[in-house]
Amino acid sequence: MEIVIVDDAEQVARHAADAVVRALRRKPTLVLGLATGSSPVAAYEELARRVQAGELDFSGVQGFALDEYVGLRATHPESYATVIARDVVAPLHMTPSLVHVPDGRGQDLDAAARDFDAAIAASGGIDVQILGIGANGHIGFNEPGSSLRSRTRVKTLAARTRADNARFFDSFEDVPLHCITQGLGTISEARELILVAQGATKAAAVAAAAEGPVTAMCPASVLQLHPRATMILDAKAAADLAHRDYYLHVAANKGRVQEYAGLSDYPPTGLELSAAR
Ligand code: F6R
Repeated sequence: MEIVIVDDAEQVARHAADAVVRALRRKPTLVLGLATGSSPVAAYEELARRVQAGELDFSGVQGFALDEYVGLRATHPESYATVIARDVVAPLHMTPSLVHVPDGRGQDLDAAARDFDAAIAASGGIDVQILGIGANGHIGFNEPGSSLRSRTRVKTLAARTRADNARFFDSFEDVPLHCITQGLGTISEARELILVAQGATKAAAVAAAAEGPVTAMCPASVLQLHPRATMILDAKAAADLAHRDYYLHVAANKGRVQEYAGLSDYPPTGLELSAAR
C-alpha cells in the first residue's frame, strides 16, 4: 500500500484528482467507482474545475456508486442517486446513462444487489475506486464484521455511522437503517483503490486500516491485501500512523535512483523508479 501524507485537505483533493486524471488519460472509457460522503467532495470539485477548463472529458467514463440508502424516495436530496447526479455527474459532464447507483427502493433488494455486481462485471470491472473511510473503519457501508470477501448486498448501518451521517438529515432517526453497499470482495476487485481521509476524527481508523491486522473488525484493512491501493491523507488523518516518517521518506525518494559508490555504471541511463511505492 502506498501512503501519501500531505499538509491539508486541499492537497488531498489535488492528489486524488491527479490520480484519476492519470487513469483517464490512459483510458478515456475509464470505469470509475464513486464514493459519496464529504471526503471526496473536494476532489470531485477539483476535477470539475479541470473539466470546465476544457482539460478533461468524462463523457465516456462509466461510474458505479459505492452504496445507496434503502428506502429513501428517489428525489430525496440525500439519496446517493441524487447526490451522485448533483455533485458528480453534472459537474463532471458525465453521461447519466453510464452512471449506476444500486437501487435501494425496489421490492427485491437482494436482486438489486446482484444486478449491481453483474453490471460492474459487464463493464469490464472498475478501474479506479475512490473510497472514504468511516470513523469505525468502514469502507462503502461495510461495517465492522463484514466479510472481507463480501459481495454487493444489503447491510444494516451501525449506530456510529447513522450518528455521523445525521448531519446530512434533519435528525438521527431520519438516517436510514439499511443500505445496499458494494462488498469488500467487490471493492477489492477494482484495479486501483484510492482512499482519501481528512481530519483528526479519521486518524484512529486510518492507523488501524493501514498498520493494524487485516480483520473484518476494521473493514478498510482489506486494502492491505490489494496490490495497488493508495491512501491520501492530510496531516491530521495521518497523525496516529506509527510509520509516518517512513511513508514521508518513501515519498521524498520517489523516482530517485541512488548512486552507489564504486559502481560507476549504476544507475544505468534511463533507469526509472517511478513505480517505487
Ligand atoms: C460513502 C461511503 C462511506 C464514506 C464514509 C466516510 O459512499 O461509502 O464509506 O466514505 O462514511 O464519510 P465522510 O466522507 O462523510 O466522512
